[in-house]
Parts: sequence; structure tokens; C-alpha cells
Amino acid sequence: MSRLVTVSNRVALPSQLQAAQGGLAVGLRSALEESGGMWFGWDGGVDERIDGLRQPRVQTANGVRYATLRLSRLEYDRYYLGYANQVLWPLFHYRMSFVHCRRERIEGYWEVNRLFAEHLPPLLEGDEIIWVHDYHFIPLGQLLREQGVEAPIGFFLHTPFPPWDVFRALPGHEPLLEALCRYDLVGFQTRIDRDNFLDCLTHYRPQLQRPRAEVFPISIDVDQVAREAQRGYNSQQGRRLQQSLRDRRLMIGVDRLDYSKGLRNRFEAYEALLEQHSEHRGDVVFLQIAPVSRGDVPEYEEIRQYLEYLAGHINGRFAEYDWVPLRYLNRGFHRSNILGFLARSDVGLITPMRDGMNLVAKEFVAAQDPGDPGALVLSRYAGAAEELDGAVLVNPYDVDQMVDAMHQALTMPLGERRERWQQMMDALRRQDVHRWRKDFIQALHDAHRARGSEA
Ligand code: G6P
Repeated sequence: MSRLVTVSNRVALPSQLQAAQGGLAVGLRSALEESGGMWFGWDGGVDERIDGLRQPRVQTANGVRYATLRLSRLEYDRYYLGYANQVLWPLFHYRMSFVHCRRERIEGYWEVNRLFAEHLPPLLEGDEIIWVHDYHFIPLGQLLREQGVEAPIGFFLHTPFPPWDVFRALPGHEPLLEALCRYDLVGFQTRIDRDNFLDCLTHYRPQLQRPRAEVFPISIDVDQVAREAQRGYNSQQGRRLQQSLRDRRLMIGVDRLDYSKGLRNRFEAYEALLEQHSEHRGDVVFLQIAPVSRGDVPEYEEIRQYLEYLAGHINGRFAEYDWVPLRYLNRGFHRSNILGFLARSDVGLITPMRDGMNLVAKEFVAAQDPGDPGALVLSRYAGAAEELDGAVLVNPYDVDQMVDAMHQALTMPLGERRERWQQMMDALRRQDVHRWRKDFIQALHDAHRARGSEA
């Protein structure tokens, strides 16, 4: 078995493994442990004194090497805050007006990719396959080839991929498309994303040699999530939540505080629900957990302020001396607590304006009690909607429709909830995170072999 090398901007370091890791870390870690692999990326820190030269820090746990590099302030500003999160992120989520691109950001992005491409080869031992993740590292495969790396190299995009007319607004899109074509395999979350990518190639340059491009919907480890959820449900925090609710019903949202997550429309829909359906007043609590993310980017600060205003407004308008309708928390929790909260909830509200997949939607389903499962309200624009059609699917731009969906979910009869839940569980069992990873790795081997025989 070839050793798996994964490269991603964030690395789930062994010291953090228990605390905050999501489905991706769980899925990749077991593959890394099986193959004695390596995880390579940014260490999450910024060093004011770095002047270009540096060495990766390597630590080993359970046979896996974790190699990380630190960024300078300038690199962090241009590559991470700049091009990755103020250019690629908004553009890939179809938010063109949030794109702020300057040439120095493009340069900073390529420079950091070059830095990682230079530091990876000395860490390789032979017989590896390299799996690059997400929009931070699009050029990496090409730059590794330029360093003489011959191993199979695949790329998986966790975010959506936009249509050509959006994509071509991106300053510096041409070299990115060419770089994507240098991978043996490029993976997407949904068919729409893959088709958009192929369509971009057709418009840009039909004669370009295309990589193999396929759909691999990322998922969760269903049994592991169910177990953790049970643990969280019975934990002290799970019980405290239960006590605080008494017999009220709970609607829950769990998202990074990001403008792509649809929190503003979700809050507005909740306000309208309380206005139009007075029977829910005093009977429902909406718990929104939204840890602050990328707080140095102005659009994130703006949405944060607006949500604080809306949360205050909703509670000011409807709260009673013994009931607060909206509990809005800007902090993260231990993974098993989150899963326990999901398990306790009657309704999951996952309503992004656009999302690559959204694993919380899948976790919500896997965390439910099969005898009395909650209902899921899910945006059509989450990748997860392609598989989870047992959810109440909504258009997040249509606030009135979301009000109806919340009401429908809160009043859904047990029989229907069970039927819909079963349908969603069947989908999750067909395609879990282990299948995702195995399918990708198999396809990468095949694609590399096929390219070799073409050459
Ligand atoms: C999304 C991206 C990931 C990223 C995560 C957290 O899920 O697809 O690549 O790591 O957000 O964002 P952050 O900027 O904090 O890494």
C-alpha cells in the first residue's frame, strides 16, 4: 500500500485530535494511520520574524507524521486572509461582490504554494500518493510536478465550484485552471460543481489536456457519530441543556460564523415564524451556535454585527420573563457536546446560501434517535441536498418558504419523521466517509496509471 500524504491548509494536529475535529479529520486520520502516512500544512501560527527561510516542524503520533510550516505576517495577510478568503472563498460561493483582489494577493497566494511545494519533496520517502485539499492549494500539484515529484497527485475541492461566467471574473483564473489540469484527478462534492469545472475548461481552452474529474461527496462515519452523539446526550452538558429547556422544543443551527451560511435569512425566518404562528411562542427555543471565523475579514465582522443586532431584536421583541426565543452563541464546543445537542434537537436548521457539502446536516441525521427522530430543514444549495432528499428542502433566499418549512418541521407527525429519517440514513450508509476516501484513492491510482500509459 502506498503511503498517503494529505496536504491541507489546516492540519488536525495530534494534540487537537480529541477536542475539535470534524468529519474530515476522522476520515483522513484512519487512512493515514493504516498507511503510515503524513499530513502536511500550515501550523495555524504567524511569526512576525520569518524572512523566507524556515524548516517544517515534524511530529509523529500513531505512526503518522504531521509536518507543518509557519507563515509570516505578510504571507498570512496575502495568501490566507487575502486571496484564499477574500477572493477564492467568496467567488466559489457565488458572492462576486465580496471579492477583493489585488495583484499582491495573487502573488502572495502563489508564493505560499511555492513554499509548500519546495518543502514537501524532502519529506517524501518514495511510494507515496499525494492528496491535496481545498482552495488554498490549487497550484500545488503543478508546482510539485515542477519540483520533479512523480507520485500520483490528486486534488479535492471542499467548496462549490462556480459557473464559467462567475469564475472568469476571478483575476488570475487562467493559471488556476491550468494548474487544476496538471492533477491526475480532481474531485468535487456534487455533479453541479464538476460540470461547472468542465464547462470552464471548454470555454477557456477546449484543447487543454483534461484531468480526470469526478464526484466524491464527502461524508461522515455514521456509527462513530451516533456513538459520540449518545455520549454527548448523556453528558453533563447534554443534561443541562435538557433541564434548561424543560418541555420546550429545540431547533438548532451549528455553523461557522460565515456569510455563506445563511444565518441572516434564518434569523429573519425565525422572527416571522414567531410572528405568524403564535402557538410556537413560549414553546420553541432556537439554539444557534456560531463560532467566530476569519474575524479579520471585514465582511465577517459586518455579518457578525448584523446578527448581534438581529438576535437582540428578536429576543427584545418576543422574550418573556421565563422564555428566551433565541440562544445565540459565538463559541465552539467539544465535538461530542455538539453532537449531543444535535441529538437532543427536534429540528435541524441547515440553510446555507451555498455550501460545498455541509457535514453538520449529515451529523444531525446520524445523531437522531431512530425511534423519535427530529426533522431536518435543509437548503437546496448545500451539497448535502443532493443525497438528503428526505429533508424538508428549502430555498434560503425565500424567507417565507423557510417559515413554512420551520412550521412543517415543528409539527411533523412521528410516522413521517421516521420515514424521512430512514431515507436519509440509507443514503448516509451507502456513502460514508470511508467510502469517500477509498473511492478517491482508488480513482487517483487508476488516473495516474492511465496518464502514465498515455505519455
Ligand atoms: C471550510 C473550508 C476549509 C476550512 C474551514 C475553516 O470548511 O472548506 O478548508 O479549513 O472552512 O476555515 P478556516 O479559514 O478557519 O480554516
